[in-house]
Amino acid sequence: MFTRRRFLAGSSGVLAMAASAPLFAASEKLSYKIAPMASKAVLLEDGGKQTAVWAYNGLVPGPVVRTKKGEEVSIEVFNQLEHPTTIHWHGIRIDNAMDGVAGLTQVPIQPGERFVYRFTPPDAGTYWYHPHNKTWEQLARGLYGTLIVEGDAEEGQFDRDYPIVADDWRLENDGSIHEASFQSMHDWSHEGRLGNVLTLNGKPYERLEVIAGERVRLRFINTSNARIMRFSLANQETSLIALDGQPIPETKLGGDGITLAPAQRADLVLDINGREGDEIAILETSNNDRLVAGYLVCGQGKATHSSAKLPVTLKNNSVPEPELSNARVLELEMSGGAMRFLTSGIYKGQKMGGRELATKHQQLWAFNGVAGMPEQAFFSARRGETIKLKLLNETAWPHSIHLHGHHFRILSRDRGSVAMGDYEKHAFRDTVLLERDETVEIAFVAENPGKWMMHCHMLEHQAAGMATWFEVL
Ligand code: C2O
Ligand code: CU
Repeated sequence: MFTRRRFLAGSSGVLAMAASAPLFAASEKLSYKIAPMASKAVLLEDGGKQTAVWAYNGLVPGPVVRTKKGEEVSIEVFNQLEHPTTIHWHGIRIDNAMDGVAGLTQVPIQPGERFVYRFTPPDAGTYWYHPHNKTWEQLARGLYGTLIVEGDAEEGQFDRDYPIVADDWRLENDGSIHEASFQSMHDWSHEGRLGNVLTLNGKPYERLEVIAGERVRLRFINTSNARIMRFSLANQETSLIALDGQPIPETKLGGDGITLAPAQRADLVLDINGREGDEIAILETSNNDRLVAGYLVCGQGKATHSSAKLPVTLKNNSVPEPELSNARVLELEMSGGAMRFLTSGIYKGQKMGGRELATKHQQLWAFNGVAGMPEQAFFSARRGETIKLKLLNETAWPHSIHLHGHHFRILSRDRGSVAMGDYEKHAFRDTVLLERDETVEIAFVAENPGKWMMHCHMLEHQAAGMATWFEVL
């Protein structure tokens, strides 16, 4: 028997509010219209309770944006919230001006205003979108969605293709969002704001239809503020085919499943071996409990597909390979947080004591002794230069470090990581998990001109200091 402990929850979904409006404006070709707005969702098992959320087009998750590698997409964002916002297209090697970072690449979209994002995704794969202004609050209120970029070689390889967007909500008993914890210094200085309700695709128990014999692609996305999750499928052979959007050689998933730090993605493929009426449980096991988060339900019918026994072939994207022999080597030291509080640090160019940083500016963490976004770039790279970054986690907490606009190789971990498998060696990632006291070396080609953020994707850590930026000239 499975129990639901720390994550509680149960059955039914979002109330569709202003679903998809007509998508095209008369004057220009818009592929999508996305409006962040106040809305309501049913997130608790006890379906009578509703949660007031902020949601894209009123939906949690927001509408799936599906586009094609190499084809321009344009998305109009109409801000119907009472708060300024932006959208960041997480993991896309995008034009800098479209990266959606408030204060670095654009001014936030004011209430009632519109902004058109236009970009041509160079890589196929699984990505996602979310605000990049007060992210810790806006995302936790429900603003996130899936972004799928289709490749050329994928068609016909899968009978089903389901995003599985996992979120970790912190709710009160009446279903409302736990707002008191939004600026909790306790959460900001520890693991971040953890939730008590797990949803997949905005539902307490997601049920996805499959048919025995089918080949199914599942795109897992961890959109939680701070929780590291681990997923597997009960009694079902499963392989991993991509991480953070980028393909890896097909790898059988062991019993531990796949660990996803906040913002990370994993694409899994399974050839359904159940029979009609079977339910394959989607398990979340980060707590060492086997928590049932949803089901694949084997429906009636016959699988029509014939290639199900062939190996999956996802075409590699053209992410440039770092040239390690010529790499410029830099270090990023992470410090602060509970148990090892900062005794001093630089904030907005001024040196100050740890107490002042914490009480006056809510800054509790630092990168290389600097808390929060520095005025000067952490480094400037020549276009095409290989950067090797040594990430030193000198804190007592794990972190999920994300680079904008680029994907990187993971070269080494100083203490063979428990959480991550060998498969990571073949990956290009945009977000990497570091355990406490761990050192990880990454390398990438700085090929995308502009100003790029680099931060912890545990959003309270980002807000409380773990944020910097680099420049590619
Ligand atoms: Cu997913 Cu800086 O973002
Ligand atoms: Cu962190």
